[in-house]
Order: sequence, then structure tokens, then C-alpha cells
Amino acid sequence: METLQQVRPEHLNHHGFLFGGYMLMWVDEAAWIAASLDRPDCHFVTVGMERVEFRRKVQEGSILMFTIKESRVGRTSVTYQVDVVCRHAAGHEKSAEPVFSNQVTLVRVDEAGEKIAL
Ligand SMILES: CC(C)(COP(=O)(O)OP(=O)(O)OC[C@H]1O[C@@H](n2cnc3c(N)ncnc32)[C@H](O)[C@@H]1OP(=O)(O)O)[C@@H](O)C(=O)NCCC(=O)NCCS
Repeated sequence: METLQQVRPEHLNHHGFLFGGYMLMWVDEAAWIAASLDRPDCHFVTVGMERVEFRRKVQEGSILMFTIKESRVGRTSVTYQVDVVCRHAAGHEKSAEPVFSNQVTLVRVDEAGEKIAL
């Protein structure tokens, strides 16, 4: 699955670049959407992400492309690899620069919020 997100002024930190918390929210949300579409009978909550590292600044106006792929299926959990690349809306930089990657694990829960087998 792929999703897109534009980086707008309200997403910036006080240095003028993307605030990392928004990146984490978008990655978590994208993994949850992928899991929910792949298994429409299941309800999921996020249990964990990998170690988080921000190695690239992201500018206002960037278009982020999220690619989400299932990478592991467990008994109650499913893990998605999320890779984020950055494109610039102005168009003069055509290449897509990798800016963030992580693995997000979600657990299937019942109506009471207790884990259950997939
Ligand atoms: C998700 C939840 C129901 C899991 O219950 P739990 O008793 O803590 O779960 P367990 O330790 O038995 O692990 C359940 C599964 O998650 C996996 N898991 C647990 N911690 C993990 C981590 N840090 N990273 C990746 N996977 C993890 C386990 O390997 C297991 O997978 P499997 O059943 O496929 O083998 C419970 O922790 C919970 O309700 N957490 C809050 C979720 C939430 O509110 N998320 C939003 C963020 S605030």
C-alpha cells in the first residue's frame, strides 16, 4: 500500500523543518490502515515500533510517500515495514530521497481490548 502526505507549515518545528512526532503519527497511522484493510474483520492497536532515528531533515512543501508492506505475521500480531521517501513539490528535484523507515507491530484485540489470535 502507498499513501501520500504533504508537509504543511503546522507540521514544522521551531527550526523550520518537519517535527518528528508528525512523522511517527503518519507512519503509525499508515501501518494501522494497511493492517485494517488487509484484515477487515480484525481490530488492531499498535504495540511497538523499532528504534527511531531521524537522519534527514524534511522541508515545508515536501510530499512524503509512504510504502507499507507486511513483513511478519505472528500469533496475535502483524508487523509492517514502512518506508518514507520525500519528493519536492517544486519539481526541480525529481529523485525521491529516503527520509525514514521503521517496522510497526500491531496486535489484534477484541472488544474489551484484550489480545486475540489473528
Ligand atoms: C497491545 C496489547 C493488547 C498486547 O498485550 P500484551 O499482553 O502486552 O502483549 P504480549 O506481550 O503478549 O505481546 C503480544 C504480541 O505483540 C508482540 N509484541 C509485544 N511487544 C512488542 C514490541 N515492543 N515490538 C513488537 N512486537 C511486540 C509479541 O511478540 C506478541 O506477538 P505474537 O502474539 O504475534 O507472537 C497491550 O499491550 C495493550 O493494550 N497496549 C496498548 C496499545 C495501545 O493503546 N496502543 C496505542 C499507543 S498509545
